[in-house]
Amino acid sequence: MAIERTFSILKPDATRRNLTGAINALIEKTGLRIVAQKRVRMTRAQAETFYAVHNARPFFGELVESMIAGPVVVQVLEGEGAIKAYRDVLGATDPKKAEPGTIRAEHAISVGENSAHGSDAVETAQVEIAQWFSGNEIVG
Ligand code: RTP
Ligand code: MG
Repeated sequence: MAIERTFSILKPDATRRNLTGAINALIEKTGLRIVAQKRVRMTRAQAETFYAVHNARPFFGELVESMIAGPVVVQVLEGEGAIKAYRDVLGATDPKKAEPGTIRAEHAISVGENSAHGSDAVETAQVEIAQWFSGNEIVG
């Protein structure tokens, strides 16, 4: 499998509970490398753009509010099949359905506060990484 890069966000519910290190440990245990990382506060416009694909969904307003409720940690992860590898360690969107040992099973509070985001395809990973990092901020 090819070496890929994926985009990750540790969401406000995770930073609020001081879980950056605990989640990073689960990421690194899978073999994925954190090749870029910064803590930022998303603006409302950035959150709306980031999740624009969901803007017609009933939960969109709540989703945007949750992403701007506190700081987030944006990351680029690199490794073999990184996009699927990260989705696997994230676990299901609903933490009640997530496999034990996954980030969401271990740490998420609810569907809305599910601790972390991971890109769902090569194309979305590229777009999301470019939204948050310039080339020289990513050090593989
Ligand atoms: P993400 O994009 O954050 O990695 O999550 P995902 O792919 O597992 O799930 P997605 O369908 O893309 O949904 C994006 C985020 O919207 C919130 N959500 N709330 N209340 C609800 O029914 C509901 N459904 C989705 C979640 O925070 C989800 O991560
Ligand atoms: Mg998604």
